[in-house]
Amino acid sequence: MKVTVKVPATTANLGPGFDCLGLALPIYNEITVEETVMPGSGVEINIIEDSETYDILSIPKDENNIVYKAIELLYNFVGQTVSDIKITIKTNIPVTRGLGSSASVIVGGLMAANKLLGNPADEAVLLSIATEVEGHPDNVAPALFGGFCLSSFEDDGSVLCSKILWPEDWKLTVLIPDYELDTKIARSILPESITIKDAAYNIRKCSMLIDAVYRQDAELMKKCLSDKLHQPYRERLIKGFKELKELLANKDDVLGCVISGAGPTILVISKNDGFEKVENEVRQIFEDYNVNCDIRTFDIENEGTKVI
Ligand code: HSE
Repeated sequence: MKVTVKVPATTANLGPGFDCLGLALPIYNEITVEETVMPGSGVEINIIEDSETYDILSIPKDENNIVYKAIELLYNFVGQTVSDIKITIKTNIPVTRGLGSSASVIVGGLMAANKLLGNPADEAVLLSIATEVEGHPDNVAPALFGGFCLSSFEDDGSVLCSKILWPEDWKLTVLIPDYELDTKIARSILPESITIKDAAYNIRKCSMLIDAVYRQDAELMKKCLSDKLHQPYRERLIKGFKELKELLANKDDVLGCVISGAGPTILVISKNDGFEKVENEVRQIFEDYNVNCDIRTFDIENEGTKVI
């Protein structure tokens, strides 16, 4: 028996919501998990590149693979051990770009393995295992449920998650550059501690941001996308981000731009065709840096992971 699932890409943080806000985008990886017929064949991991997803060679294909690790935790949860299993990952989400490719394969592996086992784990368990493997819930929650998710990794290992309706006319444009940024590096440059002033700044921005989405208030949203926890430290690693922020600051129907997850992709949020009106000026910024940028505009993805 084998099970294949389709899992969306995600963009995390949305500025002030470091490690807790994320939303899903309609770019998909497909993950197939199957029991192998030959006993003793162990774990087999195949990666198929569906389009230009860049550095897939760096993904481990043994027990160190994060999908395998997640599946092993699920089997342990139900009191079993993983024996002979084949995992096939068909990648379409660019890797090491800040679009949740690791969250997508973790969630996909868990969903598929859970179905193979007869669905012993509920969504809360899958979310908690996925968060344990990923380290934070802001990508795995929207990868699992779709939409705009707020999530909190609790001290007991459980994860709280709320989904809030994203305004239909708020479009999401991702600017995916042709260079990589490893999340481990982008996290390692963050300070160990921050001032209470910066913490208070983020709490007020993040609170107002959630209200802006809830009430679909674009003018309020424009004031809520800044933060002091991660972007000030990371922006020197993201070519063009500073210039882009300045360019977009006063454009009609552009709500703002943020680093997507740990970067280097940048997310621009705009109303209707707001981004199209500024696209040429945006392209110029990246041309000046000699960076090829794949620019794609989407509606939010609301379905999350699906068995196909
Ligand atoms: N919240 C995470 C970070 C997302 O900013 O490091 C990237 O995995």
